[in-house]
Amino acid sequence: MVKKNTCIFISGTGTNLKALIKSSREYNFPINIKLVISSNESAKGLNFAKIYRIPYYILNLNNQLSLELGLKKLKENNISLICLAGYMKILKKKFINKYSGKIINIHPSLLPKYKGLDTFKRVLQASEKVTGCTVHYVNSKIDSGKIILKKKVYIKENDSEVSLKARVQQAEYKTYAEAIIKINR
Ligand code: GRF
Repeated sequence: MVKKNTCIFISGTGTNLKALIKSSREYNFPINIKLVISSNESAKGLNFAKIYRIPYYILNLNNQLSLELGLKKLKENNISLICLAGYMKILKKKFINKYSGKIINIHPSLLPKYKGLDTFKRVLQASEKVTGCTVHYVNSKIDSGKIILKKKVYIKENDSEVSLKARVQQAEYKTYAEAIIKINR
């Protein structure tokens, strides 16, 4: 099997990155993570890049030189799939068009419901009974691209934002892997 050269974009703790790295090391999993891009140098998730010896790059979208270098690294590594995993910056239209159909994201709600930030808080405030996560293609509108896969997580009566987030994140790790398998079938 020829694995797809993949770059993971992060901004924070990187637990989805860790899960994807683990999946990618399985013989039959369709991606090989060649590069990690972080929007900031203090992202905890960079530790996983270091532990698993994956090259990483800190990308400043507002700096032309940084952007050009980032693009160069994507090209050099023949990246044909970009997975956003807790990436908190908004990618420029030009970039999205360049990698059209090749950028995917994981979002902690059942899209199209609860786009944007603070999903757990809003879901609990609305007394929802069910939420979950969604893997979708990225287009120029936030959390609006074509949906690849969704997974439900049932909300318990005594759930807090913390407890709900913990269960949704567990679902995310599985869903991201399944979505990647699905688009590479
Ligand atoms: C995830 O919950 C994901 O849905 C959202 O950001 C979070 C990132 O968590 N887009 P982590 O950095 O992968 O731990």
